Amino acid sequence: MGGLFITVEGPEGAGKTTIMEKLRTYFAASGVPVLATREPGGIEIAEKIRTIILDKEHTMMDGRTEALLYAAARRQHLTEKIVPALRRGEIVLCDRFIDSSLAYQGFARGLGIDEVYAVNQFAVDNLMPDLTLYFDIEPDIGLKRIAKHAGREKNRLDLETIEFHRKVREGYKLLLNRFPGRIVEIDASQPMDNVYGTAKNIIEKHLSGM
Ligand code: TYD
Repeated sequence: MGGLFITVEGPEGAGKTTIMEKLRTYFAASGVPVLATREPGGIEIAEKIRTIILDKEHTMMDGRTEALLYAAARRQHLTEKIVPALRRGEIVLCDRFIDSSLAYQGFARGLGIDEVYAVNQFAVDNLMPDLTLYFDIEPDIGLKRIAKHAGREKNRLDLETIEFHRKVREGYKLLLNRFPGRIVEIDASQPMDNVYGTAKNIIEKHLSGM
């Protein structure tokens, strides 16, 4: 299809969003066409699905319902936004994708990584990321970083316990073993500039090997 599909993953407070913005700016300035997006990506249907998932009133939401809704929103964002950009030959940087579902719903919620993977395979229809940067951070540190972001809106998943976030990280570690060629781990407890530099080098290495 052309292009390069890169996803960015990690527990809360790993600094993904900040680093993604720096990467986008860097590649755009180097003349590489780049699209930075995040699920649900401003796609109307996916945004509407997301509102249902993250609504704090929806405490009765079943885990499988949550997994299916994430997969549905992912599908729409993929077909409406990501695939066209890849067809134009762009680098797509996506903040969270399939591995979030595998770590959060599959492992932390206990639905099973295999089960959630099966649902998501149907959703993505073989379009897996070429490269996934996993920003690793201990949940205690990550959540402290987030607490400093004054005015950040709390969503339903932010209300989860520290144990849940520890399980999310454990889930990501399992995914590193499962997809060693695709997922690359980056220590996100380092200063932001080091984390950014490491991420940039990994992407450039990937680009030069294409
Ligand atoms: P968001 O505010 O986007 O979090 P972050 O800035 O950490 O990316 O909220 C997204 C939340 O949804 C986050 O807690 C992770 C969770 N999530 C899942 O549980 N499964 C998924 O498939 C995705 C994409 C996100």
